[in-house]
Parts: sequence; C-alpha cells; structure tokens
Amino acid sequence: MPNIVVIGTQWGDEGKGKIVDMLASGMAAVVRFQGGHNAGHTVAVGKDEYKLRLIPSGILHTGTICLLGNGVVLDPEAFCGEIDGLNERGVEVNPERLRVSRKCHLILPYHRILDQARESYKGESKIGTTGRGIGPCYEDKAGRCGVRACDLEDPDLLRKKVGLALAEKNALLTGLYGQKAVTEGDVLDKLEALAPRVIPYLADVSAEIARVEAGGGEIMFEGAQGVHLDIDHGTYPFVTSSGTVAGNASAGSGVGPDHLHRVIGIVKAYITRVGSGAMATELADEVGEYLQKKGAEVGTVTGRKRRCGWQDLVILRESIRLCGVSDLALTKLDVLSGLKEVKICVAYAYKGKTIQYPPQAEKGLAEAVPLYENLPGWEEELGSIRRFEDLPPAARNYVRRLEELSGRPISMVSVGPDREQTIRR
Ligand code: IMP
Repeated sequence: MPNIVVIGTQWGDEGKGKIVDMLASGMAAVVRFQGGHNAGHTVAVGKDEYKLRLIPSGILHTGTICLLGNGVVLDPEAFCGEIDGLNERGVEVNPERLRVSRKCHLILPYHRILDQARESYKGESKIGTTGRGIGPCYEDKAGRCGVRACDLEDPDLLRKKVGLALAEKNALLTGLYGQKAVTEGDVLDKLEALAPRVIPYLADVSAEIARVEAGGGEIMFEGAQGVHLDIDHGTYPFVTSSGTVAGNASAGSGVGPDHLHRVIGIVKAYITRVGSGAMATELADEVGEYLQKKGAEVGTVTGRKRRCGWQDLVILRESIRLCGVSDLALTKLDVLSGLKEVKICVAYAYKGKTIQYPPQAEKGLAEAVPLYENLPGWEEELGSIRRFEDLPPAARNYVRRLEELSGRPISMVSVGPDREQTIRR
C-alpha cells in the first residue's frame, strides 16, 4: 500500500489541514515529522472547526493512529493543552491513539523567552517568528545540549541538563537581552507536573510505523509550514528551523526513504506569507486586500494578517524539484472568484536575465521582478461545485494552465473550507 507525504509548496498556510484531514480517512497512521506548535492546521467538519497545532489531523478520524516523530519539537504544556481542548470537544485523545517519539526535543520556557527576547532585540531585522521557542529548541538539539522527551523518565538527568542549560541561557537573557533570569525551579516544577501526563504517550515511533506497515496499513506523513520556510532550501534567514521538504519525512520519523511512495504538494490558488522575508509577487494594492479579506488570511497561531500575492510558478517549480512532488492539491480556488483578471508569475527578471528558479543569494528574491501571464477571471462563486466540468470555463482554464506550467497533475481542487467542498479528479 502506498504511503503518502503531504507538504506545503509555498510559505505555509496552503490549506494543508483540510487536505490532510480528507486523506487521513482510510490511513492507518498519520505522522508529523518536523516543526512544533508553530504550525496551525484548521479543519472544518460540518459546522465544527478544529485548530490543530501539534497533533496530526488524523486525530479527527477514529481508527487512525497519530504519531509525532523524532523531528518534532514538543512543548509539553502546549501538548497537554491541545489534548485537553480536543477531549473537551468530544475528540478522544489517549495513548492508544497518539504516540510521541522519545527522541523528540522538548521546548522549555527558556526557549520561548529567548525566541521573543531575540526578536525584539533584532528590531527591524527580526525574522517574524511565531515566538513559540522553535528556533532556540532546534539550536540546542544541534548544539547537543537539548532536553529530550525520554529525559522526563530520568529526573536526575533532567535536573542536570536543565541546570547546565540555564547557566548559559541566563547569561544571555540577563546580560544581552535585559530579561529576568529563569530559575531552575520555574522549569523543573512545571516539568514535574507535566511529566506524568506526557510519559504515557512516549514510544519508539520508528518501530510503531514498522508495526503499522507490517499489518498492511497505509501511512501519511503530514508536513508543517512550507518548502520555502525550510532551514536549508527556504528563503534563509527568513525560514523556520526545521527541514520542511518531503525527504525529511524519512529522517524526522525514522523510516527509510523507500517508504515514501507518493508526495502530494499543496498549493494555494494564490500565495501568502506571514513574518518577514521577500515574496516576489506580493500585492500591496486592493487585489492583495481582496485576497486577504476573502481568503480570511489571518495566521492560526499568531493572529497576524498574511501578506497576499499572485500565484508564483517559480516558487512552485522549485518545491516540485526539491520534494519530488507527484501531484498537486489546489486549495482556495473559490477565493479568486470576482476578479476580472488572474495572474500567474511564470519567471523572474533578475540581474538582466530571465530565470525559472528562485535566486539563491540572500537578497535575491527581493531583487527579482515577477514576469506574469494574464488570464481572464470569473465572477461565479464556486463553493457548491463538485465536478471539474461544472467550473466556469475561466476557472478550468486557470487550473489547466497551472498543470501545464508546473508539469504536474492537479488531483484535487478545494472550493471551500468544508470536507465536502472538494473536486476530486
Ligand atoms: P518560527 O517557526 O516560529 O521560528 O518562525 C519562523 C518563520 O516561519 C516566521 O516567518 C513564521 O511566520 C513562519 N512560520 C512558522 N510556522 C508557520 C506556519 O505554520 N505557517 C506559516 N508560517 C509559519
């Protein structure tokens, strides 16, 4: 049975939550492999709306096991809060249905405080992070001084590691950033209270995946953020601190690359970005405002307005290349209704040349000028359409042109937030 990797091909917020939720039905397991509660997946089920941050969307489907792989960074407080929130709404979350890798690194209070202090210290040149402590936690992982989920089972080791970490963090917090020192008690008291709740969820996620596969079950690997926020391939330094490309589904969950059979790229009908960093097709005009309002483009985690722009094939082509995308799911096509004309950026003019792939220099994207193809728009609202042939001709034309320009089939088109508002092709 084929396993699927689902990734966002832009700067996150492509509407992955809905697609992943739809694909999850029938999956034996859904695995997150990177990021943390900086992600925000909104899933609409009838009149109910769920905002998931850390827990995979598979949790809304009984019979599907959800796994957090070793590549995820776990804030124990946020994790327990999300479980409580779901349980209160009648979604059963327990260690039978949700397992967390013992190798996950923990986001601790000093990571969050450092993230926020560093951002305000940087002023104009800030990254625009979600302020959840993601970067500082991955720094500790790479610096080999991180605290892992399995350390919750070893209180002596936990105390020793937190003490050592605080000596360094407090020097920075008080010396450079003018913050109050964090005490060992602040951190350990919290962890002591949370540990009995988190420990029952801990598992060997790689072995869990192997067990599910041995039983003939299909697995979905659920990416968070988007390819252009990848720590290596994204628009550095305005990126997140994890690998968001499809290949990281392997390293971030403990399976060989031969277990990743199909890669679905989620692409929104236009493009958005939150936080700092250039976006070549950004619209600072009434069309950008139209997309922002009609698309309700507000960050799930931080409540920030997302910047909006035209579809950018340079960005999409790069994601297809970096991730081996097999097919695309197009989201929010309904938001484009009412525009006289829709534009697709097909290439950039950059330093006197026409280029098909994004420039790699730090200031490259800010200096690139988008070259557009203009297509006719359509007036009709699309929310009730369920068959591709029932779309207005101009909307069909737009979808087909994206397929031609990307070289990939669009297997799903989403025309509204609800599970039902989807055209499968
Ligand atoms: P961090 O992941 O909180 O360190 O933020 C780094 C950058 O990634 C910022 O520009 C954030 O706005 C962006 N980012 C992080 N998570 C998401 C997401 O789920 N959707 C969109 N942007 C995100």
